[in-house]
Amino acid sequence: MKKYWLRFYNYIYKHLLTKVIFLFNSELIHNLLVRYGEILGKTLLTRKLAFFIFNIKSPILSQNIKGITFENPIGLAAGFDYTASLTQILPSIGFGFGTVGTITNHAFEGNPKPRLARLLKSKSLMVNKGFKNNGIDAVGNKLKNYNFQIPIGISIGQTNTGKFTQESAVEDIVTAFKKAEEFDLKTKYYELNISCPNLNTKVTFYDPDKLDELLTKIKALNIKKPIFVKMPIDKNDKEALSLLDVISKNKMDGVIFGNLQKNRNNKTLDKNETAKYPVGNFSGKPTWEDSNRLIELAYKNYKDKLIIIGCGGVFNGQDAYHKIKLGASLVQFITGLIFEGPAAAALINSELIGLLKKDGYKNVKQAVGINVNKLAVDKASL
Ligand SMILES: Cc1cc2nc3c(=O)[nH]c(=O)nc-3n(C[C@H](O)[C@H](O)[C@H](O)COP(=O)(O)O)c2cc1C
Repeated sequence: MKKYWLRFYNYIYKHLLTKVIFLFNSELIHNLLVRYGEILGKTLLTRKLAFFIFNIKSPILSQNIKGITFENPIGLAAGFDYTASLTQILPSIGFGFGTVGTITNHAFEGNPKPRLARLLKSKSLMVNKGFKNNGIDAVGNKLKNYNFQIPIGISIGQTNTGKFTQESAVEDIVTAFKKAEEFDLKTKYYELNISCPNLNTKVTFYDPDKLDELLTKIKALNIKKPIFVKMPIDKNDKEALSLLDVISKNKMDGVIFGNLQKNRNNKTLDKNETAKYPVGNFSGKPTWEDSNRLIELAYKNYKDKLIIIGCGGVFNGQDAYHKIKLGASLVQFITGLIFEGPAAAALINSELIGLLKKDGYKNVKQAVGINVNKLAVDKASL
């Protein structure tokens, strides 16, 4: 029954509400929605009401990963909630986990505008935020007041003031981790974002030695919560494997594939839409293929060592299931939420339950990497 209500809500959002909402500036609407979500999350009544309308629960979706219970595998990716405003409402609208940030050691006002725009034909967003955030002190002070119903993580990256050398950027990131730890928050995991393409910096962690320097210093902090490294999607297989090797050697817990699409020639990007925005990089559909390629690559080579989180171009349950079958234990999204509306996570979960049952699985874990394993079996029998 709930499935039909969710579909109805989704229809109203896509065919009526967006006709109005999409007339206004994307960043303005985004800020309003986050503010609205924060208000709804503040009172028990609105949380319960939203839960009643949206939430989908089933043991088939529940997994324990790195000692953390994820009641469902669908999470909010880094970049939607820079102000740690949505942690209380996310479980009520069907999310199984959510990431705050990316947060940096120092506050930063963001890149010059435009910072966000909708590319409707490309099913994408132009993103040029450059880590607009209040800094780890402010965010830590806010989060320390909260308990969380679902696993919440903090994404940490380098401060985007353009003033850092390679060495001082490492110090900056390590300091942000140290400060986050000192708050002793009830958050459950960290993301280390090494892959934002919108930063004004020459610092890079795509050279394996440089990544090793950063990870060694982070490892020395002895952080007990899992750390997932947010990866670029514009690397070829060889380059990606050399980074995964360093990540695995440094005993990070997992990787997220991945971040925004830099390639403006990506075939799903409409040239007339990208021409309007000389700055920024792209989310949504243009990230789909590269994200999938790298999830599969990571699963084939590191499935016993790294948890893989799939992110990029997920709009529905089929999309999430595709990433899971390529090796993703968890799935994150943002653009699908903007295009499909607040029922998106619940709908994805509801569709996922149907797909898993149809294929005879008792738990989502059984489907992780199933297409890659099948491929290996098929090849072996040739
Ligand atoms: C508005 C916006 C801001 C983003 N900011 C961040 C960020 O701060 N840190 C990060 O790791 N990824 C960031 N991303 C990338 C997303 O987390 C995600 O990797 C990418 O959008 C692909 O997922 P999607 O197609 O579901 O949007 C941002 C994406 C969007 C749309």
